[in-house]
Parts: sequence; C-alpha cells; structure tokens
Amino acid sequence: MLIKQADDLRYSDITPKSLYFNRRRFLAGVPAAFLGARELLSPSARARAGTTKLTAAKSPLSTTGEKITPEDDVTHYNNFYEFGTGKEQPADLAKNFKTSPWTVSVEGDVAKPRKYSLEDLMKVAPLEERVYRHRCVEAWSIVVPWIGYSLSALLKEAEPTAKAKFVAFESLYDPKQMLSPFQAGIPLPYVEGLRLDEAMHPLALLTFGMYGETLPPQDGAPVRMVLPWKYGFKSVKSIVKIRLVSGQPPCTWNEVGANEYGFYSNVNPNRDHPRWSQRKERRLGEFGKRDTLMFNGYPQVAGLYSGMDLLRYY
Ligand code: MTE
Repeated sequence: MLIKQADDLRYSDITPKSLYFNRRRFLAGVPAAFLGARELLSPSARARAGTTKLTAAKSPLSTTGEKITPEDDVTHYNNFYEFGTGKEQPADLAKNFKTSPWTVSVEGDVAKPRKYSLEDLMKVAPLEERVYRHRCVEAWSIVVPWIGYSLSALLKEAEPTAKAKFVAFESLYDPKQMLSPFQAGIPLPYVEGLRLDEAMHPLALLTFGMYGETLPPQDGAPVRMVLPWKYGFKSVKSIVKIRLVSGQPPCTWNEVGANEYGFYSNVNPNRDHPRWSQRKERRLGEFGKRDTLMFNGYPQVAGLYSGMDLLRYY
C-alpha cells in the first residue's frame, strides 16, 4: 500500500499472483525429494496447517450468489505487514505465530471492562458463518465465508458509557515474533478505529474463523475484525485491545498517509485513491475486472453516513 504507484499497483497485484501460479506449475515438475514438506501439501491442507475445525450456523447476513474465492488464494495473498510486505510472505513468516494463550482487553469508557481469554471471548454470542465480499484498497477483492459474531454483542456486554463515541482497536505487537516497524514500513502496533455506531452495526464482524476452520495466522489469528463495506485495511488483525474512547482514535494507514487513507475508508467507486482509480476491482483467481460497488454492495450501512459528504470524509 505504502510504496505503490498506479502502474506499479497493477503490475504488483497481478505479477506476484501469476508468478505464484507459474511457480506452482513449475513445482509440479520437480521431484519430491527436492521440495520442502509444505510444498507437498494439497492447497487446502497447506491453507489449514495449524488450524482446527470451527462450526457455525449460516447467517442471514451473508452475501449470496457469488462464487467463494478459493481458500488457497485467500491464505496466500495477504496484507499483514508485521509478517512481511509481500503478498505471500505472511503465510510463510507467520506460520509459527503463537496465538495461545491469548487475551483481549475490552476497556476505556465502559461500565464493565474485562480481559477475555480467547475461549471466553468466543462464547459471548453464538458463532455464525457469514459470506462477505472483502475489497482491498489496492483494487483486488475476495469472497470469504468468515466465522464470528457481530461486534455489537461484545460492546453491549461491556456497556459503553455516555462518553464513548469511538472504538479503538489494537493488534498484538511482539517484536520477538514480528518484523520491526522499520522492516514493516509502518508504525506498530497496528491500530484502527471506528465510530461507535459503525462498530455497533450488525455487519461489523468479530471474526474467529474462515472456511469452517479457525483463522490461519496470516489471516489474523486468533481474532480479527471484518468490515465488509470498508476497505480491507480497516479490518484489523490479531486484536489484543478494544478501547471505547471519546475522541477519534489514530489509524495506522491514516497516520502513514492521511491524504490517501481516510478515517472512514468506506468503499466508494466515486472517490479515487490519489494514485489509482477505485472504479474497478479484480477478484482474486479471476481474470478481467468488475465494477466496484458503493459501500462494496452493502447499502444497509448508508444510513450511518446520511448527510455526510463522502468525498470529503473518505
Ligand atoms: N492488521 C494488521 N495487524 N496488520 C496489517 O498489516 N493489513 C490490513 C488488514 N489488517 C493489516 C491488518 C490490510 S491492508 C488488509 S487489505 C487486510 O488486513 C487484509 O486481510 P487479508 O490478508 O485477510 O485479506
């Protein structure tokens, strides 16, 4: 995100993917003895190494009628800068990421602050499987069956006080397991924020799994946000802190370049990124481009922004 020019973007989005497929084609002809064990796994086994089964009822909030993106693409084309700036690096560099024990602190302007173990956090509301479109600011998109529950259930349990107007999220930063901010090219820990009413919207998903399994490390294990109407960078991974606050919290990409990455970052085909158009997107695993939809095709969130100039509040 940081270093791309418009032309680089097209180049760097497509090239690693085709190199990746070429590499797999190339590997098919290499004798097994020369390959690492990981390369011998089938695509689904490769994606699932280290994850466990997670079952959930299908949610009526799912997007319907769209092809699910192959799991192997979703788990090998990631943005997770703590584990590398290349799209395929997180799958490799995060594979030994220690996600147990894990605690998430819900704190700040709430009547009932609490530190949750992951196990307790997963029990706050019934888990649901929700198929969502997920649109990256870099103009690629995926369709994923995520597993989680609406963040609103957790926030209600914490009882926000009248002072709480925003929700600030913080990812784990463990320098022993992750790159330095210099290597990652962004300040760490990764932080994100939402207005409280956005965070309370039922579509805002506190996410523990995907494709019927717990999250693999590269996709934000053990718990992340998924905000389907916003650009992907708002969907903060490997969360350790959720803090209710009165003022607009800092957001990593907004701090890196406020004129490129706004606080709201709603998917909006009418507001170009300063270095590229946002009118079209490429679905991972497909050729050609499709139109990008306002709010990524989730008009039910429009009421959150009524009266706001969304070209100014991007
Ligand atoms: N969260 C953390 N902690 N670190 C990151 O680098 N990248 C963001 C977001 N959450 C990121 C993060 C970006 S830029 C995107 S597009 C999505 O995660 C990517 O999610 P995915 O890899 O599961 O597709």
